[in-house]
Amino acid sequence: MVAVLLVMGCSPVPGPQATGAGSAGDIPDTALSYRHEPLDSAAVTPGTRYSASEPGESQLLERSYENAPPLIPHSLADLLPITRTRNDCLECHHPDAAEDFEATAMPPTHFYDYRRNRRLEDGNPAMYNCTQCHVPQADAPELVKNTFQPRFRDDAGRHSSNLFDVRDEGVEED
Ligand code: HEC
Ligand code: HEC
Repeated sequence: MVAVLLVMGCSPVPGPQATGAGSAGDIPDTALSYRHEPLDSAAVTPGTRYSASEPGESQLLERSYENAPPLIPHSLADLLPITRTRNDCLECHHPDAAEDFEATAMPPTHFYDYRRNRRLEDGNPAMYNCTQCHVPQADAPELVKNTFQPRFRDDAGRHSSNLFDVRDEGVEED
């Protein structure tokens, strides 16, 4: 009995045949590349065009989904890099300055320490590197079709966030 099982275990199992190079159904390497170039060619990646509009002259973009970090609609020329001693974003987006520049003010979530449950007057250092989450919108064709459709619970969510007010939604008090 044991011998029979061993023999069965070793018998070759019919499976998919390995396809050799050049066989019908092969995908050419030009079709594997988003650049439509052979993978080993040094062709440059197509350039990406970002907004050339100065802050104050760009059009706000709809939020990608409810409470998503808004995309940056204006040029970032001369505003980067953000360093330990220099963060130009704060010059216009800090709540004390935003109105003067007609810029959206940083929301209360960026001034809150969730571990200790307290407001941080100078902002949460974890939110200092703005471009870690806020990215500029580029005029680039979709390489892969995106079928994602955001659902907003109300129209205000298309253009503003309310995460600070709804952050405990669904969490039960002790
Ligand atoms: C000189 C002032 C100024 C500076 C500096 C600036 N912004 Fe802006 N920003 C604006 C204004 C004004 C708008 C509103 C759109 C417009 O009028 O161009 C805006 C829009 C935005 C938005 C979209 C907000 C929304 O409600 O959809 C984001 C995100 C943003 N900026 C991020 C940044 C980041 C990150 C930096 C730093 C790298 C930065 N901004 C630097 C003035 C500024
Ligand atoms: C860790 C990710 C992260 C970082 C870092 C971050 N943000 Fe945000 N930001 C978000 C998210 C998520 C939202 C939307 C939800 C909310 O209100 O917090 C948001 C919302 C905003 C809004 C829109 C507020 C509104 O009322 O609609 C502005 C303006 C903004 N951020 C500016 C900034 C600036 C300026 C910095 C850097 C000083 C920054 N953010 C850093 C994630 C981030």
